[in-house]
Amino acid sequence: MARIDRELEAGSRAHYTDASYYTHTYRTRIEDVARYVELACKSGGPVLELGIGNGRIALPLARHGVSVVGVDHSTEMLADLRRRLRAEPREVRERVAFVRGDIRKVSLGRKFPLVICPFNTALHLYTRSDVRGFLRVVTNHLMPGGTFICDLSLPVPRDLARSAQRKYGAPPFNHPTLGRVKYEEIFDYDRVRQILFISMFFTDKSGETVMTPLAHRQFYPEEWQVFLEEAGFRVVTIEGDFQGGPLTQESDVMVVHARRARKA
Ligand SMILES: C[S@@+](CC[C@H](N)C(=O)[O-])C[C@H]1O[C@@H](n2cnc3c(N)ncnc32)[C@H](O)[C@@H]1O
Repeated sequence: MARIDRELEAGSRAHYTDASYYTHTYRTRIEDVARYVELACKSGGPVLELGIGNGRIALPLARHGVSVVGVDHSTEMLADLRRRLRAEPREVRERVAFVRGDIRKVSLGRKFPLVICPFNTALHLYTRSDVRGFLRVVTNHLMPGGTFICDLSLPVPRDLARSAQRKYGAPPFNHPTLGRVKYEEIFDYDRVRQILFISMFFTDKSGETVMTPLAHRQFYPEEWQVFLEEAGFRVVTIEGDFQGGPLTQESDVMVVHARRARKA
């Protein structure tokens, strides 16, 4: 059995252990939500969301009448999703189902016209075997003619070039669970594995510091397409923003739409 890499394990989990911090941090990220709502409504659903988190995307989809099934490995995010669902009207609640599982190997035994993997969840696929397992999962859950859409941040050369010996500070802010905090981070890029290791330091008023690790695999557009094609997908389009614009030198995200090119 392959040995678990504890650093990567922590890098795919720690950032998601405080759902209120996650909600607070990404509260202004709304363009992707609007785009997924538009695409899901067009498809009609049901939608499979790999890495559903605490429902940032899934809840708006359900409010727009689209049924969603989600998979996530974070008990904390799923507990928060359960709590948030309780505040929704019954018809919205009934449109969202989820299971705790690993997006690299889950098997739900059903197929969907649309599979989505929003907001950098795919950056937690650290190895070629992770990517291949994940794309097998997508394939096994996609109806003939169905679409797979994911969005990934593009590598930012200046971030990858940061010195790992230096802490970079940002303005203090009100952390929902720790109160007013000083925030600093270290970026440490592993050029061989193409993984950016981020250490986030939160120091509260008493001077106590909490460190949260986050590990993000860096995928380049050409490379991600090779993975998709190797797994039997045809890349339909790659957009460079959430308005459907093209991928350009200025883009910081790639929104990739793919279909099955041949039978699995
Ligand atoms: C950036 S969040 C995205 C959540 C949600 N899709 C959104 O847009 O807000 C990434 C999610 O992927 C989940 N995740 C990461 N690696 C995973 C894995 N191997 N299996 C299942 N879930 C995973 C995390 O727990 C987290 O909830």
